[in-house]
Amino acid sequence: MQFMKNSRCFAMTMAIVMSLAGRCAYAQANHMSPPAQNAVVGKDVPVTVVAGESWLNHLNRPFNETSMGKTGHLGPPPPVPGEETAGWQPGLSSSAAPQTVTLHGADLYRLNCQGCHGESGQGAPPEINSVINPVRATSVARVMERMKTVGMDISRGDAVKLAQESNKALLQRLHNGGQNMPPFPHLNEAEVHSLVAYLKQLAGVPGAEREQVAVRESPVHVGEHIVKSTCHTCHSASGPDPSYQQVLDGAIPPLNTLTARKSRPAFIQKVTHGAPILMGTPPSLYRGRMPVFYYLSEEEAADVYLYLALYPPSESASLDTTIALSQQDPPAGGGTPPPQKILSASLVPANQPMEVQKPDTGPDLQTVAVLSGVGLFIVLLLAGGLGFTVHEFKRLSAKELRLQHDCEHNTQGEDRGCYSNLSPRFLS
Ligand code: HEC
Ligand code: HEC
Repeated sequence: MQFMKNSRCFAMTMAIVMSLAGRCAYAQANHMSPPAQNAVVGKDVPVTVVAGESWLNHLNRPFNETSMGKTGHLGPPPPVPGEETAGWQPGLSSSAAPQTVTLHGADLYRLNCQGCHGESGQGAPPEINSVINPVRATSVARVMERMKTVGMDISRGDAVKLAQESNKALLQRLHNGGQNMPPFPHLNEAEVHSLVAYLKQLAGVPGAEREQVAVRESPVHVGEHIVKSTCHTCHSASGPDPSYQQVLDGAIPPLNTLTARKSRPAFIQKVTHGAPILMGTPPSLYRGRMPVFYYLSEEEAADVYLYLALYPPSESASLDTTIALSQQDPPAGGGTPPPQKILSASLVPANQPMEVQKPDTGPDLQTVAVLSGVGLFIVLLLAGGLGFTVHEFKRLSAKELRLQHDCEHNTQGEDRGCYSNLSPRFLS
């Protein structure tokens, strides 16, 4: 009876603890995934942490046997020993980073597609198909033209149908990816609209120039595009930091280690101009294998750094639940984004040696306080439970001893529930 009461009490306390922890995770999720900023139309997709293995790992494709992510060119050779090398400084203006950036369809293509399909959209067949023909097939005029050149007459109605089918296939490809192409769930409707308009221009669809639309986004969202579409091709989201020797042996440092491995200026340099890398035992400078993303601006590389610092990829499995939670969470007030902490962080003068937030500072102080409170509570609870158990145990063995004693000195022992054969362990 005593124990029953106690266990009910225990269950109740556990329920309180669980709900506290749940609420905490929920708060954390909200903190981590503020809604995307100021898209022109359509429903916003919140900025989320990049997760999972690199696309190349996912495909099981060795680095040396692919063109994916390699449309940049090779970095500079390591300096000749003894020769002075000029220190590289980012040329970012010292004015505060803008709160929003205007992206044209061409920019969205550059940030999300160029890493594999190249500037022209031709890709690298046979591994990476060209985007040009599938995009042309979305144009009624182009479909009719093409049919004529192969000597088939097609009604306008049929051409419209074909074009619609192609359009659907293109959108589906962006949402779901292809056999060897990653999906792009981080693109919202407005971005897809803007991107597709640019793809049509790139493919020479008549009249496409007039349909170009731009979107406005936060710098951190720009960073998200680049990381998820370009860097994640080769870099896994998280994992242990490889040693100099492991990098020489082919390891690619995961995204969660980059802001610690490189200062912000060195990071920007590596991405936009290339930089030799220390590898091997003893470590020495090598040219490295990472392509130079000459087509990304220094501001955009800084946005990548910002995004990785504010949304540090983590290995914990709980992260996935956090993301899932936040995705279920409808943006408050029908999509009007609340004023954001994230944005103020990006207002740090752009070329200050940046200490925005180290990747492992993750949760804010309040969350840490609540979490450690809950932790302490659980520890106390466990200690209490243990104390109670020990106490009960002692009490029972004392009772047992008394009983045994009574049994030994009482001939009516059996009637009082004496064991003839009490475990000696209990008595010692
Ligand atoms: C990580 C590399 C990669 C990135 C990034 C990428 N693609 Fe692809 N894409 C591929 C590969 C590989 C194919 C070949 C088909 C397949 O295996 O899915 C392809 C094929 C295509 C095709 C042609 C499909 C066909 O019917 O022949 C289109 C259109 C396309 N991609 C559009 C895009 C757009 C738009 C983007 C940017 C939002 C993009 N891709 C980004 C790898 C990539
Ligand atoms: C084609 C594959 C590939 C892509 C795409 C790629 N990287 Fe890399 N990255 C590497 C490899 C390989 C290394 C290891 C060093 C080397 O060989 O240069 C590396 C190293 C780095 C380093 C330096 C680490 C150090 O300690 O010196 C940084 C920073 C980095 N990458 C950032 C990025 C960012 C940001 C992006 C996206 C814009 C990106 N990478 C895209 C392959 C890639």
